[in-house]
Amino acid sequence: MKKIQISPSILSADFSQLGNEIKKLENGGADMVHVDVMDGHYVPNLTIGPPVIKSLRKHTKLKFDVHLMIAPVHKYIEDYAEAGADIITIHPEATDSLQDSINKIKELKKKVGISLNPETKIEIIEKFLNQIDLVLIMSVNPGFGGQKFMPEVLEKVKKLKTVRENNKFNYDIEIDGGINFENSKSAIEAGANILVSGTTIFKNNDGDIKKNIELLKSA
Ligand code: DX5
Ligand code: ZN
Repeated sequence: MKKIQISPSILSADFSQLGNEIKKLENGGADMVHVDVMDGHYVPNLTIGPPVIKSLRKHTKLKFDVHLMIAPVHKYIEDYAEAGADIITIHPEATDSLQDSINKIKELKKKVGISLNPETKIEIIEKFLNQIDLVLIMSVNPGFGGQKFMPEVLEKVKKLKTVRENNKFNYDIEIDGGINFENSKSAIEAGANILVSGTTIFKNNDGDIKKNIELLKSA
């Protein structure tokens, strides 16, 4: 049974205080920090890049769970590894060769994640499951925080859990988008062991990060 971990998304943090916000996550019991990188091309939004990640690196020992919503992605992987990413998650549609990009992330000694959008089928990554560390199941269409959870993606979570058990694979199953106190239990029961959450952690209970993380964990 994999430990349930919380990876708060800083997309919902105060961008003018990112260093302090990350310290609050660390003190509030976060297991890692979910960094949503958006390029305004793969998704219709633009956030942060390597220089900001590099400057945040010294503010915490927490792992940076970097979600690259950028295309093309392959040529930028090294920049994020050097900036301090620990897990580098890419979208299969954003690279000409998923195998080359997986190899590149491994070469850089980082954990490899692949992210599936709500409409993307597991089949397209099935042959890579034996060599990756994380599957990130999007429960919203990527690009923005604060969207409504799409419960239909839980079928993919269940399937990934079964495939992992039947083949003795070891990847984590992370779910990302619209996770809150009402749906976190069903996400965990379906098989997700890492919950990404932005709005729920930063905005609920007057922004009491520690309380919100505990509530999500104790779902
Ligand atoms: C969306 C991002 C998610 C999002 C989560 O493209 O990948 O990580 O920021 O934010 P909430 O929890 O507010 O849906
Ligand atoms: Zn994300």
